[in-house]
Amino acid sequence: MEDIKKQIALAIEGAAEGLAADDIENLIELPKDKTMGDYAFPCFRLAKVFRKAPNLIAQDIAGKLQDSELFEKVEPVNAYVNMFVSRANLTKTTLTAALEGDSFGRSDFGGGKTVIVEYSSPNIAKPFHIGHIRSTVIGNSIYKIYDAVGYKVERLNHIGDYGTQFGKMIVAYRFWGNEEDVKKEPIKTLLSYYTKFHKEAEKDPTLDDKAREAFTKLENGSEEEYKLWQWFRSESLREFQRVYDMLGIDFDWVDGESFYSDKMQASIDELRAKGLLKKSQGANVVDLEDYDLGTALITKSDGSSLYATRDITAAIYRKKHYDFYKNIYVVASQQNLYFKQLFKILELMGYDWSKDCVHVPFGMVSLESGTMSTRNGRVVFLEDVLNRAVDKTREIIVEKNPDLSDEEVDKVAAEVGIGAVMFNELSNNRIKDYVFKWDHVLNFDGETGPYVQYTHARCSSVIKKAGEDVAKKAEDASAINFDYITSDSAYELTKLIYAYPQVVLDAAEKYEPSIITRHIINVAEAYNKFYHDEHILVDNEDEKVAKVALTIAAKNTIKNGLGLLGVKAPDRM
Ligand code: ARG
Repeated sequence: MEDIKKQIALAIEGAAEGLAADDIENLIELPKDKTMGDYAFPCFRLAKVFRKAPNLIAQDIAGKLQDSELFEKVEPVNAYVNMFVSRANLTKTTLTAALEGDSFGRSDFGGGKTVIVEYSSPNIAKPFHIGHIRSTVIGNSIYKIYDAVGYKVERLNHIGDYGTQFGKMIVAYRFWGNEEDVKKEPIKTLLSYYTKFHKEAEKDPTLDDKAREAFTKLENGSEEEYKLWQWFRSESLREFQRVYDMLGIDFDWVDGESFYSDKMQASIDELRAKGLLKKSQGANVVDLEDYDLGTALITKSDGSSLYATRDITAAIYRKKHYDFYKNIYVVASQQNLYFKQLFKILELMGYDWSKDCVHVPFGMVSLESGTMSTRNGRVVFLEDVLNRAVDKTREIIVEKNPDLSDEEVDKVAAEVGIGAVMFNELSNNRIKDYVFKWDHVLNFDGETGPYVQYTHARCSSVIKKAGEDVAKKAEDASAINFDYITSDSAYELTKLIYAYPQVVLDAAEKYEPSIITRHIINVAEAYNKFYHDEHILVDNEDEKVAKVALTIAAKNTIKNGLGLLGVKAPDRM
């Protein structure tokens, strides 16, 4: 889309010889008080160049811009040139781009460079609870945003399928396990064993020794332990897949931590060769005190590997295999220090690409009863949340659309119910902690996903009512008389649509999907205001076409924005 600010900079370049458009563009301001204009150009800095008082320069430039079709009005006010852009011109620029459809908001900013987005990464044999929705849904959106701005994205799920906790699980299963129960409800059952293990181990510490032993055996490839582990793993992955299917989430690679188990020794050797390993009470650590980052444990005194060992190995592997431009980890803020350590170690190993590794943290979810705790069984399962949201939505859909078939009802209920949970997750700045409340997730009023989806469905219905002929004409920007859509409410909506592609770029730069969420809420509100303020399907054909065109542009913006959040945009609801 043509950039209005650039157009203005070019016009000023023509009016004030000796200044480059790029410099001008950087100087242009957006006045907070809209009665001062849409854009303002300050002339203070030009006084030296032109050896003239700034207010005289402002007068001079304003005079020369008077006839430009870009502006409705140009006024010199003290040292400023205040510019009111031509509504019809901005509307034309905006709609020409927004009527394109799916491509609106997409760009090739990234030039096809490879970006890894690692997200979700749950631990097997543990519940997929509402804490996991954060990494899963935020990561999925970051993937979609990076894809939209022209990067090649590799989606990775770094499953937690390795570590001493599997020793515990194996021991627990041997003592209290039952195959049938595990098959019936794998994760809840395995979790109950794990919980029991911790209770029992408080009374009988030898259980912990047994667990360590079992894990060492697993690491050394002992068949019996390996088989059990493999079984826990496949049962768990099957359950995770059910949730991913509900959320519409995919990965290109599901390489768990265990994938690196045979590659870890090489990185331990490399750390040692580079003089980074230090013995500490029998364990191997990297001392990061000089950087105020404490020490990082690489191998335990019994020789077993750790989470960090596998992450170092994984990062090196990723660089080799994907030659990433950026390697993004969407992981909770509790691991802030951990990722600083990881990136520092990679840097100390001499990998200059450590600067291309990015930790994208997010805040914690807790329950009204306190922090979630897998060990104590205090968790809310994500699948239960999704199911309840769908059930509630189904009731509303049936009531509002008695003519829909059961199949259609199911489809829309899933799109709206699950969309509501995802949208809610992406509404606030990701770094904020929040308390999970059932009535909050199941509330569909106000600035929620269903509200935005409903506005999209409203646009669809207006377009349908307008009839095919009108809709067809409205899609051709060259045939629209933009003067019909310059009222205040139309213009407010247009400005938001105009800003959308830049909003997507901003969200990418800040790894912040909520920037898009907030923006499409604003677009939906502006459309609803336009819808209430104006009669859209009027008799005058040209006016109707122009208003339907603005409706299509709003619909495309909402749909594309929801798409970047991973949320569907049904045409009816
Ligand atoms: N499985 C870990 C957890 O649940 C998250 C993994 C994050 N990714 C990583 N590369 N360390 O806490």
